[in-house]
Amino acid sequence: MGETQAESRRQFLRYLAASPLLVAGLPALAQQRIAAEVLTANDALNVFELEAIARRNIPPAHFAYLAGGVLDDRTIASNRQAFDAWGLRARRLIDVSKVDLSIRLFGKTLASPVVLSPVSSQRAFHPDGEAASARAAGKRKALQILSGLTTVSLEDVMAAHGGDVWQQIYTTNKPEAGLKIAARADAAGAGAVVLTVDLAGGMRRETKAIGARADTRACGACHRQGPGYDFSRKTMFDGVDMAGLVAGQSSSLTWDYVARMRDVTKKRLLIKGIMTAEDAAIAVRRGLDGIIVSNHGGRAEESLVGTLDVLPEIVAAVKGKIPILIDGGFRRGTDVFKALALGATAVCVGRPYCWGLGAFGQEGVSAALRLIDEELASTMRQTGITSIAGITATSLSKRS
Ligand code: FNR
Repeated sequence: MGETQAESRRQFLRYLAASPLLVAGLPALAQQRIAAEVLTANDALNVFELEAIARRNIPPAHFAYLAGGVLDDRTIASNRQAFDAWGLRARRLIDVSKVDLSIRLFGKTLASPVVLSPVSSQRAFHPDGEAASARAAGKRKALQILSGLTTVSLEDVMAAHGGDVWQQIYTTNKPEAGLKIAARADAAGAGAVVLTVDLAGGMRRETKAIGARADTRACGACHRQGPGYDFSRKTMFDGVDMAGLVAGQSSSLTWDYVARMRDVTKKRLLIKGIMTAEDAAIAVRRGLDGIIVSNHGGRAEESLVGTLDVLPEIVAAVKGKIPILIDGGFRRGTDVFKALALGATAVCVGRPYCWGLGAFGQEGVSAALRLIDEELASTMRQTGITSIAGITATSLSKRS
């Protein structure tokens, strides 16, 4: 190429790089690709492509329920922004041809540190609901935490999964209800009970309300209309005395209730929704078997605090005495890597596998879990690490 030709090519490339048209065109190209090329679960490049398809498949009211948080949804963004505070320290010339993602948790081996967070009402995203998630998780030997508001029973989910399933519980406004579900989970053979405590302050879910109003379908065909929570299709409440039971949570909840649940369940008891060192320290003192750092995916308080932001103070408070799981905004293997490096034992994901479920059913859930695992394995190779235990803060660099 002559000098003038090379210069004009350089100029053209500079022009292209600066062109707002090109930048603006990229999302449109991505949209075209999703419509034309992501025809099966295995075509998705990442979980965001599954999200785009789920958005197309799931009715607006249900998608708004899945997507939304509280007030202005800003804590959802805070969860994501927290990952940007950390960079990765790439290492070279280390043999990373074999990378092992498995972890040991409560004496069991899990194929991956990526766990399915409890997400309620999964039949709102796909007719097979939690059973499809269970089949996908079971095949990958991934731990599934089943919501207390599941639309498929724990017993059926355990049969579909074939491995370890934990049962999450909301206290409801009637203490006996949660205790009864904990006893049922024990009897069914759930590996642990997870008590979620982050909704006691109530939640103002505006995106969900807006989505419900925009949906032109007759909601009354499936949902009981009127005041109070509709438990009618929530299978874990079969056999529970429903008199006076109107809410999934109680604002009078205290640590005393946790102690009562401790007495009822013979299994491991974890607490989900911890966001401060103080509460983590109490959980350790009270004999909890583990904690899940969580702000309910930005659906509880509008704190503007991401879960990864508080992980270091919680790790310091727990001092290695019990496992620490975390969720909130994990979408990429790099996100998972950062939490593990900061001291988490395992990382749970909520919306990503539900995007997979809404997009392609069981295959979509498998794809979401596989994509995050693949990205995690690749991040480990890039940082010269071959086992989950080998991931430490020395692989991170603080960006802000
Ligand atoms: C949830 N989450 C939740 N948590 C819980 O303890 N019990 C539940 O029944 C539910 N239900 C539920 C429904 C939906 C639609 C969502 C999106 C979330 C919270 C969930 O377990 C987890 O904390 C977050 O989803 C994690 O954040 P990401 O991964 O969704 O960003």
